[in-house]
Amino acid sequence: MAKIVVIGSASMDLVVISTKRPGAGETVLGDSFKTVPGGKGANQAVAAARLGAEVTMIGCVGDDSFGETILSNLKSNGVITNHVEPVTGMESGTAHIILAEGDNSIVVVKAANDRITPDYVEQAAAVIKAADIVLIQQEIPEETVVHVSELCANYQVPLMLNPAPARPVPSVVIERAAYITPNEHEAAILFGDEPLGDVLRRYPNKLIVTEGKRGVRYFDGNEEVVVPGYQVDAVDTTGAGDTFNGAFAVALSEGMSIADSLRFANRAASLSVMKFGAQGGMPSRLEVEGSL
Ligand code: RIB
Repeated sequence: MAKIVVIGSASMDLVVISTKRPGAGETVLGDSFKTVPGGKGANQAVAAARLGAEVTMIGCVGDDSFGETILSNLKSNGVITNHVEPVTGMESGTAHIILAEGDNSIVVVKAANDRITPDYVEQAAAVIKAADIVLIQQEIPEETVVHVSELCANYQVPLMLNPAPARPVPSVVIERAAYITPNEHEAAILFGDEPLGDVLRRYPNKLIVTEGKRGVRYFDGNEEVVVPGYQVDAVDTTGAGDTFNGAFAVALSEGMSIADSLRFANRAASLSVMKFGAQGGMPSRLEVEGSL
């Protein structure tokens, strides 16, 4: 069984479903409100666990009722939570989501997720050392991402960086990561004005740019390859990228080729958008294999 370590945020998603998205200074009436577990780290952990990996999450929650719900949700999805600790006197991370006009807008308040410091992660160094792959995102402090990249380099454990939400990434992290999975917007923040084709050539089989419904693009050492996405009727795209990353990590750590891993991940992500909530539509292994 693939051993995956996810280092990242675990939050509650506070979701308003509305016909119209308000502009600045505007008030609109929403249709409904729901509270569901989210956070990019927790989402990727749950996605990988549902697909059959042994997943350990390294994270922090608040000592509030959201924290209890986040933890019990991770456990009920089979994620190992020995390294997800409640932080005394802190609130859990929250994501404030508006689902309107066929897309989402999100404001994240990191709260306890900011306590995932290099020292905190260091306590789980043995788990990181034993992993087949480590997955990390950017809803946690930048110095932690840098530190994890150093640990993974020292232990020779492949690191997959999902650089979301967008912020510049130190070049040392880009060099150390085995896989980097930005969307087009995040790729532009990482690599500036340099033409994407040139950047892809610089990082063969490492830089994987997700392009939504169009699929994903990478350079395989010989040519630029696009692995197409699957067309489905989307209900909620929140968490599609997380499902993609979790699934990609599972497939790679089971020894699948990059191309096959991307097909597997695209399929998992396409299934995930057919239900409400970041984790609501994340598929099981059987569901992905049955539909490939
Ligand atoms: O990637 C989707 C996630 O981003 C949501 O679950 C929300 O928590 C935000 O962090």
